[in-house]
Amino acid sequence: MPISSLQRISVGFFSALRRGLRHCGDWLHEQPKLAGWFYPPRDDDAVEANYREFNLHYFAGFGEQEKMLADRPRMDFYHAAISQLVRPGDRVIDLGTGTGILAAFAARRGAAKIYAIDHSGILKHAQRLATANNIETVEFVSTHSKNFTLAEKVDVILHEQMGDYLFDEAMVPNVLDLRDRLLKPGGLIVPSRFEFYCEPVQIDDRRRIPFIWELKVHGYDYACLDRSRPQDSGYYRHTSCDLGVVDHFLGAAEPALTFDLQTLQAADLAKEIRITRNVVKAGRLDAFAVFFRASTAAGLSLSSSPLDAGRAPHWGFRMLRTETAEYKVGEVVDLILSVGQWAEPDSWRWRVESKPGG
Ligand SMILES: C[S@@+](CC[C@H](N)C(=O)[O-])C[C@H]1O[C@@H](n2cnc3c(N)ncnc32)[C@H](O)[C@@H]1O
Repeated sequence: MPISSLQRISVGFFSALRRGLRHCGDWLHEQPKLAGWFYPPRDDDAVEANYREFNLHYFAGFGEQEKMLADRPRMDFYHAAISQLVRPGDRVIDLGTGTGILAAFAARRGAAKIYAIDHSGILKHAQRLATANNIETVEFVSTHSKNFTLAEKVDVILHEQMGDYLFDEAMVPNVLDLRDRLLKPGGLIVPSRFEFYCEPVQIDDRRRIPFIWELKVHGYDYACLDRSRPQDSGYYRHTSCDLGVVDHFLGAAEPALTFDLQTLQAADLAKEIRITRNVVKAGRLDAFAVFFRASTAAGLSLSSSPLDAGRAPHWGFRMLRTETAEYKVGEVVDLILSVGQWAEPDSWRWRVESKPGG
């Protein structure tokens, strides 16, 4: 048999084997009782290790960095915040410097020394950019922040570690670790104040994607798939960057959590929160939209709200999907959100309490 035929057979065999193993893995992940025998528990360290691995590749190329840099409200917020809060002569850490833009803002503001840390391959470009832009006070350090040490503490920690779910880029553990080890008493974290929102919404009719078992397509009925509801929580979440996706909020938005990284202790973040909204605009509850607002003591703010015209566009809004239900004005939507780890949306679970008499 010619070598090329043998190669074709071998490639076919190993592709089938890979596919089979992947299917087995996916299936196992969806069986919580069995998965415990094959995978380590998803503790904080495992979540962080996963994110580190993902992060290294995700932010290494130009694709993600340019989306962030082109996000005008985001860049204006950081430029203004750094101009107001970094003082000439300050020593600064830029946690997750990416292309080095926040470090450059601090350098231009007159900071004496900026340590710009990043563990992904983007750092080599950041170094070249700084030279090309005549920035001389930035020292680039290729490491994960948890491995970064300094003999002398700093005045300011800059960071942009907010994920779509706010917590999913490990902002809280990374910033708190640097704060506790390397920030002077009275030093600043920029930004430090956060509001986390999880609001009941009606999705725009043209953009709404029902659960598959709710569908009937030209008379073809998917209702029987109701018995095969997926177990993995990822299925129950949608992402959109489309401003038109949310038709309206059912209630008046208010933060489900507020915290300040200057003072927060990780244990302060409750693992179960209850979100109760009086319905002020009637409609169909389709999902809970997750978004955040970051702000500084100087009153600057940055929002990822789907209904905020000035929102920072590169953050997507995440939808925690629910069974649909119609709500009238004056009724109450009541959600319990429980999280295993805030940094790991796969560990979030939510349930809408049924309406009295509903
Ligand atoms: C959201 S980007 C922000 C980049 C840049 N600060 C900006 O504002 O354009 C986050 C960056 O932080 C880096 N990063 C995330 N966690 C890190 C950590 N714990 N230590 C070092 N770098 C980290 C990523 O590789 C990525 O380049």
